[in-house]
Amino acid sequence: MAAAVALLWLFLIQQGLMFKYCIVSASSSSCSGSIVRTQGTHFARNGRPVYLNGFNAYWMLMAAADASTAKNVTGAFRQASSVGMNVARTWAFNDGAGSYKPLQISPGVYDESVFRGLDFVISEAGRYGIYVILGLVNNYKELGGRPQYVEWAKERGQNVSEDDDFYTNAVVKGYYKNHVQVVVRRVNTITGVAYKDDPTIFAWELMNEPRSNDYSGALLQMAAYLKSIDGCHMLEVGLEGFYGESKKDLNPNGLLFGTDFLTNNQVPQIDFATTHLYADQWYLLYITRSSIFDYLINI
Ligand SMILES: *[C@@H]1O[C@H](CO)[C@@H](O)[C@H](O)[C@H]1NC(C)=O
Ligand SMILES: *[C@@H]1O[C@H](CO)[C@@H](O)[C@H](O)[C@H]1NC(C)=O
Repeated sequence: MAAAVALLWLFLIQQGLMFKYCIVSASSSSCSGSIVRTQGTHFARNGRPVYLNGFNAYWMLMAAADASTAKNVTGAFRQASSVGMNVARTWAFNDGAGSYKPLQISPGVYDESVFRGLDFVISEAGRYGIYVILGLVNNYKELGGRPQYVEWAKERGQNVSEDDDFYTNAVVKGYYKNHVQVVVRRVNTITGVAYKDDPTIFAWELMNEPRSNDYSGALLQMAAYLKSIDGCHMLEVGLEGFYGESKKDLNPNGLLFGTDFLTNNQVPQIDFATTHLYADQWYLLYITRSSIFDYLINI
């Protein structure tokens, strides 16, 4: 059941539902003022508050990598900016030869033409005044994700079997770390600006909706690694927002996914928290008819 719901949520995200962010931590540094940072409980650029209104569009990298569909990327940014949107969340990953237009074909091996697609996405976003939040891997098997990383290690003789080995196996973690540094250090072939210096990038996201059976926090060790390469852009985890064991009664229907919204976001390198809101899905799928009734009358 949980797996089916996970896929459904992913599907919904892929359909470009609106999302919202809230701020939980503040940080400051001597970075270029044109890169958005937290300032108290605001996002700020050049000392002025930045307010956001945005959308998800997972498909941009793939569309941009094909000359016949690249105009869809431009069209989406143009349309979004015309209705006042200023941030898009999209993927800086597509892992595995089995995926359509893979960015990372095998560990550390990249398709340069697809990478140029990502360059185009960022460049077009900048032209339309839209920030991008770039996700670095998927939790799910769509577009490779955690399962593909584990599979790669298995094919290379590692004793790994479960997707959760992503968080613990040194070889798998090495692959992910390498992907992080390849993307973050990339110099955009269109604008000439290194991603790590590009004010169009609003933030990095460690993983889309990380989950595990026994969350060790290993993914969060990657937060420090990413910040050691790019200390200026903000970083968020990609969490859905579920509380851990001690507050599970506050989760929809007591659901637990091996994450803890509070402790995972308190990691010093994490600049802001995220939630993914699918209340209609959680309640329709998990609450019995009579408890829906209780819910409605108690709301
Ligand atoms: C691009 O846009 C056209 C309509 O203009 C649509 O039919 C097509 O599915 C889109 N392709 C992608 C990859 O988004
Ligand atoms: C592989 O890992 C499993 C689970 O950790 C362990 O039980 C098994 O002994 C390991 N096999 C080898 C060949 O190391």
